[in-house]
Amino acid sequence: MLAWSLLDSSSHSFFFTVLTLPIPMHISALLPFALAAVVAAHPFLKELKAQVITKCSLPNTAALTFDDGPYIYMRNVSDALTKEGVKGTFFLNGNNYRCIYGEEPAKDIKYVYDQGHQIASHTWAHAHLNNLTRERLNEEFQRVELAFQRITGATPAFMRPPYGEYNNTVLEVAGERGQNVVTWDFDSRDSVGATAEESNRLYDELAKAHPATVLALNHDVYKDTAHTVVPYAIAVLKKAGYKLVTVAECVGQKPYQKVDKPSPRDKSWAC
Ligand SMILES: *[C@@H]1O[C@H](CO)[C@@H](O)[C@H](O)[C@H]1NC(C)=O
Ligand SMILES: *[C@@H]1O[C@H](CO)[C@@H](O)[C@H](O)[C@H]1NC(C)=O
Ligand SMILES: *[C@@H]1O[C@H](CO)[C@@H](O)[C@H](O)[C@H]1NC(C)=O
Ligand SMILES: [Zn+2]
Repeated sequence: MLAWSLLDSSSHSFFFTVLTLPIPMHISALLPFALAAVVAAHPFLKELKAQVITKCSLPNTAALTFDDGPYIYMRNVSDALTKEGVKGTFFLNGNNYRCIYGEEPAKDIKYVYDQGHQIASHTWAHAHLNNLTRERLNEEFQRVELAFQRITGATPAFMRPPYGEYNNTVLEVAGERGQNVVTWDFDSRDSVGATAEESNRLYDELAKAHPATVLALNHDVYKDTAHTVVPYAIAVLKKAGYKLVTVAECVGQKPYQKVDKPSPRDKSWAC
């Protein structure tokens, strides 16, 4: 618990306050771990890599995640989640199926965000990040952060690398930019050609196996996923007793590094 609360701290003065406080014995045992967590949360302290989240950590949570939007079915997925009183996480690209700055995509992202779903980065152009120089990597991150800040006011604290591919350089850049790296432990296989029926069966098997937590990969760019699989997955996981929450909630962290006001559209909103 200490580690989590320190991770949530975003003020540097808190860092020093912690160091000078008298520390009870049982907490002092945790200190090296806690300090590592504090250092990891501070981009100014380099050489520290992003946390890689491969699973949800709060028991009985399931996080439905959706990659590759914005696209025309994103609102449908958002509505399907909202209708059932649950939350999901959207890993968005800047320029993949749609340009993030288009009139509809930008409105749709604000809509999803306002419904309380988590928006997170899937980087700008869905590149294989392991092929990029540090400079190009930073650009892939930065352009999505800027777009989110303009459209919603929020700066993301979570990202998923395209194809789940990352090396140590990716982890360093993500860490420096204040973002956790998220993979998954269940794949609906929609992006590799599974039919809606096949994806639904995979969700059935998952519910039957009943792992302690679920971190599920889906793509809201497919009509079948949006209109058939998502309502089915929500029902099956709810019936199995899972609480359907965002990725941030399922690991007990904050979804955004900071939240400001969105900006008015201007000519710089272009891909
Ligand atoms: C999906 O969302 C669009 C708006 O983005 C709406 O026009 C359409 O009716 C929705 N489809 C379904 C099946 O809900
Ligand atoms: C990650 O991949 C990039 C591009 O191939 C490479 O330049 C970099 O050295 C790699 N980093 C590590 C730590 O392997
Ligand atoms: C980048 O890396 C992937 C695998 O990591 C590879 O398949 C691809 O061909 C590489 N090149 C480019 C230009 O994306
Ligand atoms: Zn993707």
